Amino acid sequence: MSPQAKQDTKRRRALLAWYDENRRPLPWRRRPNPYRIWVAEIMLQQTRIAVVEPAYRRFLEVFPTLASLAQAEEEDVLSLWSGLGYYSRARSLHRAARQLQDSGEKQFPKTWKGAMDLPGVGAYTAAAVLSIAYGEPHAAIDGNVIRVLSRLECLERPDSRGAPHAALAGRLLARDRAGDWNQAVMELGETICLPRAPRCPQCPLRGTCGAFAADAVERHPPPKPRRATQRLGLSVTVLRDRHGRLLLERGAFEHLDHLWLPPVKVLPAPPARADFKHAILHRSFAVKVDTKIVSVAQLDRIAERKGAAGTERRVVAPDELASLGRSSLLTKSLRQV
Ligand code: ADE
Repeated sequence: MSPQAKQDTKRRRALLAWYDENRRPLPWRRRPNPYRIWVAEIMLQQTRIAVVEPAYRRFLEVFPTLASLAQAEEEDVLSLWSGLGYYSRARSLHRAARQLQDSGEKQFPKTWKGAMDLPGVGAYTAAAVLSIAYGEPHAAIDGNVIRVLSRLECLERPDSRGAPHAALAGRLLARDRAGDWNQAVMELGETICLPRAPRCPQCPLRGTCGAFAADAVERHPPPKPRRATQRLGLSVTVLRDRHGRLLLERGAFEHLDHLWLPPVKVLPAPPARADFKHAILHRSFAVKVDTKIVSVAQLDRIAERKGAAGTERRVVAPDELASLGRSSLLTKSLRQV
């Protein structure tokens, strides 16, 4: 065995033994099945475990099976997603469940191609679900994994194809326990190999960690170049009638095209007197809210008129608002009224 292969074996043994001792009792690890694992992996993208846990429990109570999700109304799926953000994940998950049901499948696919053909499933989700649910030998690579691998071998940031991290992840993967291995690396990144103030004395891999040996743990991986914030304006029109019923649109605002919002218009520059700021990814919108009261009949007429292609409109009564999957942009706008 080459020295490298020996070192890799040592790393696999050390990390899996640590995982067996220290794995957290997360809700998707109890009574695991491919559907439960899939939902968890989608929720865990871009969202911290502490936020995911309660939302995951609520979601699984209402949609315990793939069939129940496929049969659900999109509104109900989005409303159970509130608090998690990035609602396009929920819409894709729902569409994927329907796609599987329509093609007569009862479960998450077992093949790479089958998984990657589903809306919202990219290389990370495919590898995570196939390995954890079916033991298929695919390495799942997310931000935590990149950090652990960068430190182990003092790597710079991965390039656009994931090199050299993808090759290292494939080489290290414990093929006989692929799901546990992937979760062990993620868990190490979430609890020990932290971005700042990593807990190296508790790390099962410190004996074979290049950055630890070079006293350079905090220098790997180097920080991402920050994307400049784009400053824009947004004009929001809250149209109501005397009963407080509200006109909402969906699909007109490309940055939040999955949520019901009052009519909005993007302005190329921030308005002189904005009511509040609203950030979406690297964009910061200075928002100006205008309120108009129109008659009951007028509001209904406007709702019936078509907006631009792909835009839906509806009138919502105050007591219906709570059940909508709604953006904090709507909540903040209504506070101005
Ligand atoms: N992060 C994403 N998926 C995870 C999992 N299955 N276990 C621990 N952390 C994770």
